[in-house]
Amino acid sequence: MQKYILEIIYLIASVTFIGGLKFLGHPSTARKGNLLAAFGMTLAIFGTMFLYQTEQGNHLKNLPYIFLALGIGTLLGFVAAKKVQMTAMPEMVSLFNGMGGACAMLISLIEFQHIGEKSPLIILAGLIIGSISFSGSIVAWGKLSGKIRDLNLKFQQYISILLLLVIVYFAYDVCLLDPSSLTQSFYVLLVLSLLYGVLFVFPIGGADMPVVISLLNSFTGVAAACGGFLYDNKVMLVGGILVGSAGTLLTIVMCNAMNRSLLNVLIGNFGSGTASTGTSSIQGNIKELTSSDAAILMKYAKKVVIVPGYGLAVAQAQHVVHELELLLESEGIEVKYAIHPVAGRMPGHMNVLLAESNVSYDKLVEMEEINPEFTTTDVVLVVGANDVVNPAAKTDPSSPIYGMPILDVEAAQHVIVNKRSMKAGYAGIENELFYHPKTSMLFGDAKKALTQLVSEIKALG
Ligand code: TAP
Repeated sequence: MQKYILEIIYLIASVTFIGGLKFLGHPSTARKGNLLAAFGMTLAIFGTMFLYQTEQGNHLKNLPYIFLALGIGTLLGFVAAKKVQMTAMPEMVSLFNGMGGACAMLISLIEFQHIGEKSPLIILAGLIIGSISFSGSIVAWGKLSGKIRDLNLKFQQYISILLLLVIVYFAYDVCLLDPSSLTQSFYVLLVLSLLYGVLFVFPIGGADMPVVISLLNSFTGVAAACGGFLYDNKVMLVGGILVGSAGTLLTIVMCNAMNRSLLNVLIGNFGSGTASTGTSSIQGNIKELTSSDAAILMKYAKKVVIVPGYGLAVAQAQHVVHELELLLESEGIEVKYAIHPVAGRMPGHMNVLLAESNVSYDKLVEMEEINPEFTTTDVVLVVGANDVVNPAAKTDPSSPIYGMPILDVEAAQHVIVNKRSMKAGYAGIENELFYHPKTSMLFGDAKKALTQLVSEIKALG
């Protein structure tokens, strides 16, 4: 009887995972989606702890230890999620993803004791993929948090490829064809896989880490699905497959939005400290304006489009940008936000940031929808965005971002760009938009500059 109840619980949990993912597809339902999937996961965990029985009718042992581990994990996760800054979110995701990989690796290490009863192929797959995901995610976390520097050894990519081939050959030939040599080989494979994870992530440009994290996330999903196979546990299998496929899709979507292949991301060394220092090779002058000039331009506009970018997150200017929006609307001005799919440093970064300050979701307009509207826009205010408004993506075939779809802000009457300096963004390249006759630069930290702008507009009465 308990077995059937548990199967039903697993079915319900699987449905909540799928429903949760569906809800995560839109900012207005994302919170609900997260809670729904977390509810399903909790149900599956407690169902397993209290209802799972072996064929001999034994229940799970060591429940106090399991509760202790759950308690510690929950506390650490809760505190980390509460404390994390929005800009540090990718590194936290990376660290948490690494923990998932470590779990899969540990499952394989434990199940290795029962290798005769269970499929060696699945145990090895869980070990290799989980270890790569674990060590790779930790390196990604270290790079994003500035604890590990980009390291480019000569022939590193060739060494990685060679190592991967050795792992596959070792796993197949030695372990599967010659089970007698399994014990030593198993631990050799563990070490080689951990090493491969490190070498795989090390040469990738620091700024490409979000794509790599998404890829590693899909690895963790596959490794978790291996656990599902091992334990014949349907909910683990479904969860793992969902994570694996969602991570793969997200990786593809991110690459498409940047108009780069996955191979180029993995070996391109994009944005790894090559950023311009501010000296320009673009011919032309920049126009600077003061916040009172900007206030006049905006106050007498009919339609304003705000383009948020990574700098908005750095400055934590989401609340003041919302205040500016409400102020302009109270003056009868139409205000919208133009959301580029890869603005910021993680998928949905701008949506999450603006949702935090209660910007209404219907004000957030996706790139394809907003682009035709720029011709009827009086003022575009670019806040801490750079690459996503760089016309080189359309005009310069030699540019690393050539072909990436961008926001066509220069079609508007006036463009105000707020950033702190002339420094490049993520792609490390200059932006001719800053030299465009319609563009004026409003230099300064976004939070300070926008606060000043709001007071100037108020002072105009
Ligand atoms: P970026 O091109 O990175 O430009 C951000 C700009 O913000 C910088 O030029 C910087 O200039 C400015 N800034 C930084 N701190 C600021 C502050 N406190 N106040 C005002 N401005 C500040 O950002 P973007 O336009 O959002 O483009 C995102 C880039 O990341 C794209 O190239 C995209 O391909 C890449 N990427 C995105 C993702 C996802 S999923 N979102 C994943 C991987 C890569 P100053 O230093 O002069 O202030």
